[in-house]
Amino acid sequence: MISAETIRITTIVENSTAAGNVQAEWGISVFIEAGESCFLLDTGTTDMVVRNADRLGLDLDKAEALILSHGHYDHTGGLEAVLQRIRRSELRIVAHPDVFSRKYSYRKEKDVHRYAGIPFCRDRLESLGAHFELGTGPVWLTGDIAASGEEPMTTDFEAVAENLRLKQDGKFVQDPMADDQSLYIRTDLGLVIILGCAHRGMINIIRHARKLMDTERVYMVIGGTHLGPASKRQVDMTVEALREMDVAWLGVSHCTGLPVAARLAREFEGRFFFNSAGTVLRFPYTEH
Ligand SMILES: [Fe+2]
Ligand SMILES: [Fe+2]
Repeated sequence: MISAETIRITTIVENSTAAGNVQAEWGISVFIEAGESCFLLDTGTTDMVVRNADRLGLDLDKAEALILSHGHYDHTGGLEAVLQRIRRSELRIVAHPDVFSRKYSYRKEKDVHRYAGIPFCRDRLESLGAHFELGTGPVWLTGDIAASGEEPMTTDFEAVAENLRLKQDGKFVQDPMADDQSLYIRTDLGLVIILGCAHRGMINIIRHARKLMDTERVYMVIGGTHLGPASKRQVDMTVEALREMDVAWLGVSHCTGLPVAARLAREFEGRFFFNSAGTVLRFPYTEH
């Protein structure tokens, strides 16, 4: 397993910012350097990913693959800018085939469906050098780093948000978010799990990570938890499960939302941090 001391994880884009020269936008993008390997998870909403990477002194060209956590615009919107920036002729992109499905979010108050999917067509991205590796199962990026593939839903308290829809044959249907995936790293300190939006439930994801990576100890979970729009019951049960799983560090972002993040900060005092744009994680992690 990989020595955690060789890992550096930098959040390039997030809803809030932790560094003066780095900007915030709705979305997430995370740069993972682990020993000799380097990966990018998601691209935020706009070309901010490229501008923030410059400000953080990160060379996006070093990423040997881009992993897309799912097809929503706030994770895929910076794709064009990333492809235009890299100097190589091709970029390997690991994703689920459903990243290209027509995704919408339903606004009950206005009774409208707003397009929330990937804002580019596949041809356009391929013309810029995207080399899509689409599949439903886990992808081992190194011996200790995996893109999760489809996350099984095994808890009885986590559900995909009801307002997420797909347009199929002219009709809106519930989106099962089969494309939701996370990044798992097996380190000597335990698992480091990086969530995109955790649409299929962060506890389902942690359970899957433990099984796939054959490691019980969870050292850190960062990224979007989608607990912001979740029911109170789901949040309560999630807190209980996180406690039971004894997660050492929790660094929530993005679709967690401030009220739930504030609650988690209180519940997990001393092992909680806000993972914002410009946050640089080194291991073992110490609060700063
Ligand atoms: Fe999402
Ligand atoms: Fe999101």
